[in-house]
Amino acid sequence: MVIAPTSAWGPGSTYCAGSTVLTMSFARIANAPAPRLGLGLAAVGRPGYINLGRAADLPADRTVDAMRERAYEVLDAAYGLGVRYLDAARSYGRAEEFLAGWLQRRPDAADQVVIGSKWGYTYVADWRADAEVHEVKDHSTATYDRQIGETRALLGERLDLYQIHSLTPESPALTDRALHDRLADLAADGVKIGFSTSGPAQADTIRAALAITVEGLPLFSSVQSTYNLLEPSAGPALAEAHDAGCTVIVKEGMANGRLAHAEPGSVLGRVAAETGATPDAVALAAVLHRPWADIVLSGAATAAQVAGNLAAATVRLDPDQLARLTGLAGPAAAYWSNRAALPWS
Ligand SMILES: NC(=O)c1ccc[n+]([C@@H]2O[C@H](COP(=O)([O-])OP(=O)(O)OC[C@H]3O[C@@H](n4cnc5c(N)ncnc54)[C@H](OP(=O)(O)O)[C@@H]3O)[C@@H](O)[C@H]2O)c1
Repeated sequence: MVIAPTSAWGPGSTYCAGSTVLTMSFARIANAPAPRLGLGLAAVGRPGYINLGRAADLPADRTVDAMRERAYEVLDAAYGLGVRYLDAARSYGRAEEFLAGWLQRRPDAADQVVIGSKWGYTYVADWRADAEVHEVKDHSTATYDRQIGETRALLGERLDLYQIHSLTPESPALTDRALHDRLADLAADGVKIGFSTSGPAQADTIRAALAITVEGLPLFSSVQSTYNLLEPSAGPALAEAHDAGCTVIVKEGMANGRLAHAEPGSVLGRVAAETGATPDAVALAAVLHRPWADIVLSGAATAAQVAGNLAAATVRLDPDQLARLTGLAGPAAAYWSNRAALPWS
């Protein structure tokens, strides 16, 4: 992948590999009925995860076949409502396998969607929702070499975007030149290279990663970060990334389900009543109102949740409503310690 350098690329300036890569490079997204909404498979690719209402929303017996069927249901629902970006990861259990199966059974959709996945976390829960440990993090070149092979074996040439999973300021991936060269080789094969972030220092991670170049060219084309009404701290850095030509993908727009329900008298409850929308649609609409949010992920666990989440595209929030919703934000450190305490179920 060759990109002509521009004079704007002075030291310290943030820039990305090409302009608004995913939505520009993949007309299938730009021309989609719901171009700014994506579907993530973290909740349906494995029996255990941290989202709040799993006991109520998922099959009681979470066999591989039951979860595969559920994954197909949410994929069919999302595709039917115009979603064209699908997000998986090696650590989401069998999410890549389920995605590959869905692409096979939906040839009509297969060449219409853009597929993103992630490496850097390894699934170790052996299909158990009550496992002590569900995933192990390692950003070494050895893990990259193993996992790109595993991802290619399942998704082959359908892999459009490969992301480092949950980059943080401490990650060796920020300074590992051998790894950067491998990722640049994958980019030369036509796969976009991205990263996701986690933790209270997402903004620092975003700025550090966007400064990484290989042979003077930017390495990353997209960034995926947590941004929602409770934890908006990455906003300014994501706006910079977007302005620099990166595709910004927003994850956890529902705060793992904490924004799915709202007391009638609460700020979210009142805005939902005023707009005639559901709390989840309002929560995601507040993210869609950010011009730099290129793609906002739904992490729905049911087809009904997909429909509820995608209604966000039709919700209009006025400046007063946005200001009231923005008031829900809390300290990033508190958000992430709360999240770390969420039980896997
Ligand atoms: N580090 C990373 O790279 C990373 C980390 C997290 C997520 N992600 C990506 O972002 C995607 C979304 O994130 P997420 O699933 O973690 O969090 P999320 O989008 O904040 O929460 C999604 C959860 O909210 C609940 N929900 C949504 N709509 C609802 C409705 N209408 N009614 C009731 N409950 C509703 C569901 O959980 P219940 O049904 O269980 O209540 C659903 O699974 C993931 O699938 C993944 O692709 C990436």
